[in-house]
Amino acid sequence: MDLENMAKREEIKTIKEENSEQENGKKGKHNGKKLSGRAKFWIIILLLFVITLPGFLLGLTVRTYEIKDERIRGSLRIALVTDLHSCKYGEGQKKLLSAIEKQHPDVILLGGDFFDDKLSDVRAEEFLAGISGKYPCYYVTGNHECWANKEKFGTQMNILKKYGVIRLAGDSVLLQTGSGTVRLCGADDPDILFVRSVDTERVNYEAEGFKPFQDAATELAEFAKEISDDEFTILLSHRPEMIDAYEKAGFDLVLAGHAHGGQIRIPWLVNGLYAPNQGLFPKYAGGRYEKNDMTMIVSRGLAKESTKFPRFCNPPELVIIDLAGEDN
Ligand SMILES: [Fe+2]
Repeated sequence: MDLENMAKREEIKTIKEENSEQENGKKGKHNGKKLSGRAKFWIIILLLFVITLPGFLLGLTVRTYEIKDERIRGSLRIALVTDLHSCKYGEGQKKLLSAIEKQHPDVILLGGDFFDDKLSDVRAEEFLAGISGKYPCYYVTGNHECWANKEKFGTQMNILKKYGVIRLAGDSVLLQTGSGTVRLCGADDPDILFVRSVDTERVNYEAEGFKPFQDAATELAEFAKEISDDEFTILLSHRPEMIDAYEKAGFDLVLAGHAHGGQIRIPWLVNGLYAPNQGLFPKYAGGRYEKNDMTMIVSRGLAKESTKFPRFCNPPELVIIDLAGEDN
C-alpha cells in the first residue's frame, strides 16, 4: 500500500469517528429517546387545551354603563337581562338573582329571548318568581319566543302576567327618576309575524308576502309621533342590527341583545366572531355604540346551555345602566 492510499484511509476513518461522536451527542441530549409525531401532536393539543380552558370557564359578569343627559332629573338604575333563553344560574336561579340584588336596580328590563323556543320555561319562571314584588319589570319579545309554536308562546306570555311583568309591544310607559321621568318604549321582535300569522308553525315570509324588518321599521316610526325633544326616551328592542331605524325614530338610548357577544371573542382584537343577522365579525356584537345623538347599548346576554357552540372569552353578562342628569 502506498503512502497516498494510507493517508486517504486515515482521513475516512477520522470523518467516520467525527460523525459517530456527533450522533452520540444528539442522542445524549434527548436522553436516548426521540418523540414520535403522534406524541408531539398530543402535547400541542394538551397545551392548547390548558391555554384556552380559562376562556371557556368565565362566570357571570356585571357590566355597568353610565348615561348622562340634562333632561334627566334625578337618577335611575336599570338592570338589563337579555337572552336568558331559560338557562340555569344555580338552584332556583340563585346566582343571577343575587347578582341583581347586589346592584340594587330600580327597574328590570327583559330584552327578549328571555324564554327559549325549545328549552323548558321552568328556569325563566324561577327567575321571575325571584324578582316578583321586588322590582318593576318590563319585557319585549325576542325571535326565540316568536319561534315557539303559538301554544308555547301563549304559555310564556301567561307566565309573564302571573308575575306582574308588563309586556311592551309598540307602546310606552313613564319611569320615575326621582324628581322627573324618562319614557320607556318597547318594540316587538320583527319575527312576531310568526305569531301573528294564522299558522301554528313558522311561516315562509316570502311565500306569505311578509316583510318583517320593513314592518318593524314602520312600527318604530310610529313611536316618532310620541317622542318629544324635551323628554329622554329609551327604546327596549331585541335586535341591534336595526340601529338605523332606531336612530331615525329619534330615540336617545336603545337597549338591545340578540348577538350573544358574537359567541367567540379575542379580547382587544375581535369583538365577536359571528352574530345572527349580522354574520361574521358583527359590528354590534356587544358594548356601547353612538350614532349621531343616539346611544345603543348591546348586552352580550346570558345564554349558555341553549347555544350550539360554547362561549369563548365572552362571559354571560348582566348589564347595569345608570341614568343621571348632567350635574349628578
Ligand atoms: Fe335573539
